[in-house]
Amino acid sequence: MSSLSIKPANEFTISQLAELMTRSFEGYFVPVNITGIILLAMLRRDGIDLASSRVIMKDDQPCGLALIARRGWASRLAAMGIVSTARNGGAGTWAMRQLIEEAGSRGEKEMLLEVIEQNTAAVKLYEKFGFSKIRRLVGYRLDTSQIDPAAVHQDQELQEIDIRELARVVSYHGLEDLPWQLSGTTIAHHTPPSRAFCLKDAYCLISNPETTDVAISSVLVKARSGEAGLSGALMRALFARFPNKVWHVSPVFPEEMSIIFEQVGMTRETLSQWQMSLKF
Ligand SMILES: CC(C)(COP(=O)(O)OP(=O)(O)OC[C@H]1O[C@@H](n2cnc3c(N)ncnc32)[C@H](O)[C@@H]1OP(=O)(O)O)[C@@H](O)C(=O)NCCC(=O)NCCS
Repeated sequence: MSSLSIKPANEFTISQLAELMTRSFEGYFVPVNITGIILLAMLRRDGIDLASSRVIMKDDQPCGLALIARRGWASRLAAMGIVSTARNGGAGTWAMRQLIEEAGSRGEKEMLLEVIEQNTAAVKLYEKFGFSKIRRLVGYRLDTSQIDPAAVHQDQELQEIDIRELARVVSYHGLEDLPWQLSGTTIAHHTPPSRAFCLKDAYCLISNPETTDVAISSVLVKARSGEAGLSGALMRALFARFPNKVWHVSPVFPEEMSIIFEQVGMTRETLSQWQMSLKF
């Protein structure tokens, strides 16, 4: 019978962890190809703690990876994968039990995660341990190459701001239980070539707008702002400022925010996620 054990992730090199993460997500819903540089960016931005993260070993060989991000009383299961040859044999269940016990013994009060709604095995695994759904998270897409740049209005009020200023606004005005990746703390760790903009009381963070595909990583309108449609005005101003792009909103946005993307003609992506939480 095979034996399972775990090792702290900090006992491995960054390139070993990147390679293991890529193998652990083989056949996933979206292609996952993690390099050392991508992994380092995740660790820095998302607050992943390698000393609390675990490599899952089967017969003394790495067979999976669990990345744990930590902030205050909460941790987030930032990635969890078992290599394809070891799946559906109880390794995920065994590892989750260890991870939850360890979070409890660190004195935490909550474990958070996001899981693709269509990922039956993973949703089943988390529900089995008592994780409950906070809300559905959705993504959007829009190709603006068909839009005539002459037809769109260049808004003179669009201003570029320091990403740290956006992070402060999100921490102050955003929902308290925003998904980890949208929180002010995560946003403060974004750096150029990402850029932040505001138009009056509406704020937005985008990835490098010099490439064809641009991600919208944060959108916020200050709660006290009475002006309707301000987020739409901001996004239309960005579409005009950076024409001929494919704009992406990854499925980390609360479904309650759908209107923000639908009002500017974006199309909902088929993959959605559950934001889940386990309270201790
Ligand atoms: C999700 C994942 C980590 C689960 O690990 P695992 O070792 O295969 O899990 P287990 O064998 O302990 O099974 C967990 C539960 O899922 C069920 N399950 C496993 N594979 C399944 C499948 N393909 N379809 C439906 N259910 C499945 C098991 O029956 C079990 O439920 P049960 O206890 O009620 O029987 C693993 O499938 C994986 O690495 N997938 C690719 C990466 C990924 O999706 N990660 C999660 C990201 S949030």
